Amino acid sequence: MCGIVGYFGSKDGMGAVVEGLKRLEYRGYDSWGLAARTDRKILIHKEIGKIGSFNLKKDLPNFGGKICIGHTRWATHGGVTAINSHPHLSCDGRIAVVHNGIVENYQELRAALEKKGHKFKSQTDTEVIAHLIEQELRTKKNIVEAVRSALKKIEGSFALGIIDRENDILIGARYASPLVLGIAKDEFYLGSDVPAFLKYANQVVFLDEREMVVLSHGKSGNAQFDLMNIDSGKKIKAKITKIKWSAEEAEKGGHPHFMIKEMLEQPLVIRKTAATEKEELEKAAALIKKAKRVFVVACGTALHAGIYGSYLLAKRNNIMVQPISAGELSYFSHLFKKGDLVITVSQSGETADVLEAVRSAHKAGAKVLALVNVLGSSLMRAADRSILTKAGSEICVLSTKAYISQQAMFAMLSGALNGETAKMKKSLLEVADAIEKIIEKKNLGKIKTLAKKLSKVPNLYGLGRSLNYANSLESCLKIKEVSYIHAEGFAGGDLKHGPIALIEKDVPVMVFATPDSTEKEIVSNAMEVKARGAFVIGISFQNNSVYEEFLPVTDLGDLTPIAAIVYTQLLAYYLALEKKLDPAKPTHLANGVTVN
Ligand code: M6R
Repeated sequence: MCGIVGYFGSKDGMGAVVEGLKRLEYRGYDSWGLAARTDRKILIHKEIGKIGSFNLKKDLPNFGGKICIGHTRWATHGGVTAINSHPHLSCDGRIAVVHNGIVENYQELRAALEKKGHKFKSQTDTEVIAHLIEQELRTKKNIVEAVRSALKKIEGSFALGIIDRENDILIGARYASPLVLGIAKDEFYLGSDVPAFLKYANQVVFLDEREMVVLSHGKSGNAQFDLMNIDSGKKIKAKITKIKWSAEEAEKGGHPHFMIKEMLEQPLVIRKTAATEKEELEKAAALIKKAKRVFVVACGTALHAGIYGSYLLAKRNNIMVQPISAGELSYFSHLFKKGDLVITVSQSGETADVLEAVRSAHKAGAKVLALVNVLGSSLMRAADRSILTKAGSEICVLSTKAYISQQAMFAMLSGALNGETAKMKKSLLEVADAIEKIIEKKNLGKIKTLAKKLSKVPNLYGLGRSLNYANSLESCLKIKEVSYIHAEGFAGGDLKHGPIALIEKDVPVMVFATPDSTEKEIVSNAMEVKARGAFVIGISFQNNSVYEEFLPVTDLGDLTPIAAIVYTQLLAYYLALEKKLDPAKPTHLANGVTVN
């Protein structure tokens, strides 16, 4: 939630900051704001809504500076107003702060600061940080010490960009929210993720927990950075990573929305997953084999991929894996123990509930294996072992290619567990070919026509069994997230235990069939709903007269669901377009839920 960007250098960096914010809009777009330090003044500009069409040169021609910060907000504390938008200032206007995270003890801090005479303007938790630094400046010898001291008093999470009217300095700091430093010639960038500044800098430092970076001018006048631990103040040697993906990879590549671009990339994602190194898979498989009990913990789409993984490991490897929603984990985590393995799945690697799961697992002495998509993310660093899923940068809030990359990685793990990595690799390459067929132009036309037909329905359901149960959930999650049609997925076996009461004339039901013994059972379910008037859409390896609409998928055995889901991702997208909704801006959602 929320994206931050910073620039420190020798030229006007505001253009780069605005560009960075546009790239970070997926993290929140309730409002946005900018601050620049120029001639020992801090300029501030804030607006409600999305930064999308804002044109700096045209809309704000004289706004800029060599030290700048920006923020795009997903509101947590305080409504969507210009006053609550970041950057926030100290009383004296000396300190400006942008923040991603939550200051959990902000009420106590605010009360204490108010007693000392500080006047607050907003209802946000962030504003306390600016006032706290101002307060600390009264006793500390310099701005760096004041910031360190203030941060030590904050409970909660933060990724921060801080500028000071009185000093040529930009400070970044992180705890439990992501922050990356970008290094270019004589200039630096800060960003919540790499694409925020990748066009300008491809050498990066992923800040670790409780690290702070101070950007300033050295004695020679050149821009320099100092990395340090917030608590001890000790300098840390920075590990510089060279980012190999191009800025273009993070762009829409000519498509109207990232969602469609990312869905069309899925054959490539599967091929990349098939190329995962054998040794890496075997090390992860060894952890699974060694574990006394295995859990899979994740949220939303990633949890659905984990559910698919748990069925796959049960069916192919005879391993019992218990899926748990990370948001519900705290009611079970006291039962974790040494010998357990917690497999966490996350696109962003920054989901707060998932990171909390890692902490609980470690506290109990359990091991953590992460399937994670973002290199250098908090999850990747916190896990005992991690495998990078191969979705590449997923910008769209609606997770599509990350889902199939996670399903495919479970397939590779399943292969490695049975000593069949090469065989599984081959099967995955067939999945890629099958998806290639689904995304062919003629099929897209068919799905668009279906979307037109369904765009006015108030309710829609999904049914699946065994390996396709996860798809029944995921297809409906995608449809509700982007088209706002009420959609629910059920297990075929649960149909008669309640959901069948919802079936009425013409209600669409998407039925996912797996090429195994469960096919007969799901076809029976399809008949049961059709008998009650449902419009049955079959997504299957073979047609059946019960299906009024048939979406064919190649028979890929246990991997068939990985291709099948692509139909419903596309359906969700076209439903949104039919309803004149913007798939890039699903209401209230943001990529990377970094707060519990
Ligand atoms: O980054 P993560 O995979 O940990 O995110 C988990 C969920 O928040 C995410 O999958 C969410 O459900 C998406 N909006 C799905 O489209």
